[in-house]
Amino acid sequence: MAAYLSSDSRKVTTHRLIEMKQRGEKISMLTSYDYTTAQIVDGAGVDVILVGDSASNVIAGNITTLPISLDQMIFLGKAVVRGVKRALVVVDMPFGTYQTSAYDAVTNAIQVMKITHADALKLEGGEEVIESVKKIIASGIPVMGHLGLMPQSINKYGTYAVRAKGDEEAEKLIRDAKLLEEAGCFAIVIEKVPAALAERVAKELTIPVIGIGAGGGVDGQVLVVSDMLGMTNGFSPRFLRRYADLHSVMTNAISQYVEDVKHCDFPNEKEQY
Ligand code: KIV
Repeated sequence: MAAYLSSDSRKVTTHRLIEMKQRGEKISMLTSYDYTTAQIVDGAGVDVILVGDSASNVIAGNITTLPISLDQMIFLGKAVVRGVKRALVVVDMPFGTYQTSAYDAVTNAIQVMKITHADALKLEGGEEVIESVKKIIASGIPVMGHLGLMPQSINKYGTYAVRAKGDEEAEKLIRDAKLLEEAGCFAIVIEKVPAALAERVAKELTIPVIGIGAGGGVDGQVLVVSDMLGMTNGFSPRFLRRYADLHSVMTNAISQYVEDVKHCDFPNEKEQY
């Protein structure tokens, strides 16, 4: 809901994010895919919660983000929105829902907003999808861009290596970032590019640039919640800082439960009626 109609004046808005950039306050952003996690992430003070299409990997176990559908993103988006009071909730438009035409893009975008009640949407790409971005914004929906490593294009790259190391790709990224700003995006995620390039983009834009694997010279940071909590195993890119080892915590708790059930220690007398 728009902040001026809401009783909660603490609600983060796209406007507040731009003000944060202006006063040099860094923006924190994390993914969430369910109600319970979103409540924790929001309660801990994260500014932006992304219902990322990384759910395709993290939730569904796919190798890429490509298979996740619009209906699946809507299901997750609704659950997350119900758990959030303060953060700005952004839902990823999944692969195939905005690349075909600006008409398809705005039709799908409206469906996501109507059903999830999210605050904004995120789309991958620059010049190639600019008509879709403009049409969605013209319909009244705030859009966050996504440049650098764009996981929906993984089959084109053939690798998850750092993007825009060469001049040509770096110049295109800068052009695309400016195009997205001119089109009216309220922020841009830049993924896995050299820190100096990301910093330059952040300096040249007035809208916030949120980095993942893009160094500390940008306006904010985003991580996948299950990675930073150490739930996922075997994924250790240099940019990932693990703030907990939930994989061990959960494994130990569940092993203990199995033991207790096997040895008739659970439930005990107080745990029954
Ligand atoms: O889907 C996702 O989790 C993302 C972040 C990595 C930015 O797009």
